[in-house]
Amino acid sequence: MNKESLAASGYDFGSPAIGRSPVSLEELALLEKTVAMTAQDEHWLKQAGARLADQTDAVVGAWREVIAAHPHLARYYGSCEGVADAAYKARVGERFKQWILDVCLRPRDATWLDYQHEIGLRHTHLRKNQVDRAAALPHIPLRYLIAFTAVINERIRPFLAKDATPEESAALHAAWCKAVLLQLALWSRPYVAESEW
Ligand code: HEM
Repeated sequence: MNKESLAASGYDFGSPAIGRSPVSLEELALLEKTVAMTAQDEHWLKQAGARLADQTDAVVGAWREVIAAHPHLARYYGSCEGVADAAYKARVGERFKQWILDVCLRPRDATWLDYQHEIGLRHTHLRKNQVDRAAALPHIPLRYLIAFTAVINERIRPFLAKDATPEESAALHAAWCKAVLLQLALWSRPYVAESEW
């Protein structure tokens, strides 16, 4: 597959093909308050987007290093028999790069909410593997999504800190961490009963 066809593969932000999020904009606003997202954070997130724009390959590489080093995580990119699916991994990697910029630059509106729900679903047996027609393990346990946030947030530090003062670096990182946690809360929605969410 060449680079162009890989670029947008399965990235369905704003597509009518994906479902609507069951989460309301009011619930989203309360979650934003709960992670203490401020106008300052919104400012630093935009800055983060500009800083990360030409580093997304390396950022995804840094996260994937950790996944590759842990067979209990790497297995979700392979079959039940443990055969890795390189094409699947490559396609997902391109969407992951796009996501880094979306975290920082997309307005959090109803379209954004719908795609958050879709990303959550794509980690579960309800949607995993489908867009890439992969035959990998069908479901990633919620506990690994939550725990991997530690890696996502720690490993991005040097990329945010590039050419930044320590103060800027701290503000960029705080805003990034809040934005990621907010999304993890949304991605947990398809994993749990509505009454428990
Ligand atoms: C904070 C934790 C995590 C973040 C931020 C994250 C982020 C993402 C993103 C952005 C995508 C692509 C969404 C799209 O299709 O547009 C994705 C898909 C995927 N992630 Fe994660 N992920 C996390 C945890 C994990 C863990 C622990 C695993 C286990 C190895 C994992 C494995 C996968 C796989 C296999 C896909 C492809 C799903 C599909 O078939 O469409 N993720 N993830």
